[in-house]
Amino acid sequence: MSQTTVLALVGSLRAASVNRQVAETAVSVAPEGVEVIIFDGLGDVPFYNEDIDGAAPIPAVEALREAAGRADALLLVTPEYNGTVPAVLKNAIDWISRPYGSGAVQGKPVAVISASPSVNGGRWAHEDTRKTARIAGGNVLEDVTLAIGRTGEKFADGHPKENLEVAEQVAGVVISLADATRQLVDA
Ligand code: FNR
Repeated sequence: MSQTTVLALVGSLRAASVNRQVAETAVSVAPEGVEVIIFDGLGDVPFYNEDIDGAAPIPAVEALREAAGRADALLLVTPEYNGTVPAVLKNAIDWISRPYGSGAVQGKPVAVISASPSVNGGRWAHEDTRKTARIAGGNVLEDVTLAIGRTGEKFADGHPKENLEVAEQVAGVVISLADATRQLVDA
């Protein structure tokens, strides 16, 4: 297999989002043969509504579904909001879970990373994101449990990609996704 494409969906729209920076870290540390692309349009995707799905084309939704459809694997990078998955990420998962049984997430390797200033690194959001991506049809890598805590202190002086430990952990997740993609192709 020549090139593996991983689409990263980030659960925070904030310009200075630490989770976005973690996704940027995944872009930087991706090994040769693996490309990580961050999807930029999640803020334009309307709330999922079965009445509008399949009616008039919605450019933001088409862009999301096409990008997810083209990707070999998905990387979901998320903060925790009130103990669970932020609405923006859940909404994206809902859109790519449809049409039922053939949405863009169907059968794709999916890995989750969470990051939060809290000690537990957004573990509840991590667990709930894995659960919803699994129910949506993704082939979730359940043993990927990278939850980056204490982000305030850890990244006070710079970007997460400059933190060797975190960069290595994120690289491990990207490699796991690439391996899972290869295993699916070889199966
Ligand atoms: C939060 N935050 C938060 N943190 C956490 O660890 N557990 C939680 O349940 C919540 N709940 C929560 C709700 C809402 C509405 C907001 C806006 C924030 C704090 C959150 O982890 C923090 O803002 C992160 O920095 C957000 O990630 P980004 O935007 O830096 O990627």
